[in-house]
Amino acid sequence: MRIAIAGGSGLAGTPTAEIARTRGHDVVILARGHGVELLSGSGLTGALRGVDAVIDVSNVATLKPDVSVSFFAGATRNLLAAERAAGVGHHIVLTIVGADAAPDGYYAGKLVQERLVEAGSTPWTIQRATQFHEFAPMMYHSAKAGPLHLAPRARTQPIAVREVAEHLVTLAEQPPAGRALELGGPQEESLVEMVRAYARAIGGPSWIPAVSLPGTFGRAQRSGALLPGPGAILGRQTYAEWLDELPDA
Ligand SMILES: NC(=O)c1ccc[n+]([C@@H]2O[C@H](COP(=O)([O-])OP(=O)(O)OC[C@H]3O[C@@H](n4cnc5c(N)ncnc54)[C@H](OP(=O)(O)O)[C@@H]3O)[C@@H](O)[C@H]2O)c1
Repeated sequence: MRIAIAGGSGLAGTPTAEIARTRGHDVVILARGHGVELLSGSGLTGALRGVDAVIDVSNVATLKPDVSVSFFAGATRNLLAAERAAGVGHHIVLTIVGADAAPDGYYAGKLVQERLVEAGSTPWTIQRATQFHEFAPMMYHSAKAGPLHLAPRARTQPIAVREVAEHLVTLAEQPPAGRALELGGPQEESLVEMVRAYARAIGGPSWIPAVSLPGTFGRAQRSGALLPGPGAILGRQTYAEWLDELPDA
């Protein structure tokens, strides 16, 4: 198959591209670093020639709803229009478990993305997954008060990004499935303990206070609304196993 991966150079996109190539597929990367700008549509038409399926793992790093909506709506509209013109038969998109529980920040854009895909003319699969294990390092580096690292209280069931990538390629090899079963990690974790364990693994500070993030997202995280529901497909690698593999550990 010929598979185009929007965001194929990112955290999820890199292993997705690697796994697809290993399985013998032709892979096209849709990313600015590869000459494709999803928001202007520049480079898309040529890149989608002969493509059977598109996996969308593009991303914008923001907590602002307007920025998130503008990116995911713009990129998705351009992708779907170019897919229609190129006759692409399957659009697969990665979104997030529990996105509807906190629709006022980053997740606002993810919900718009899902709705556009559902309403689009390319046959589709929407795959929701929980946070990747890398979520804890991301929090360690971004949740700070001056030099002090903070650990936000949250219930999470993190998954190895490589297992998400394997699953996305499998979806691309199969017929469009609509809303796929949620994908989550093998066990629930406390984000506070994940951040502290990451700090220990990299020789960071031994004291990291727990904080409750304000707003809908903070409440959704603490309530368990971002945990996978019954019937979800669960990954294999635990956070502790992932941490053991870190080069810094
Ligand atoms: N992180 C999590 O815990 C988690 C959990 C579940 C689902 N997800 C979802 O997984 C997806 C991928 O996240 P990620 O963390 O892997 O993303 P990432 O590492 O930030 O990668 C973003 C990718 O998008 C490309 N990109 C960004 N803006 C672009 C533009 N204007 N035109 C073309 N390409 C553009 C980037 O390449 P260039 O910079 O070269 O353009 C890069 O390849 C997201 O949709 C996210 O919602 C994430």
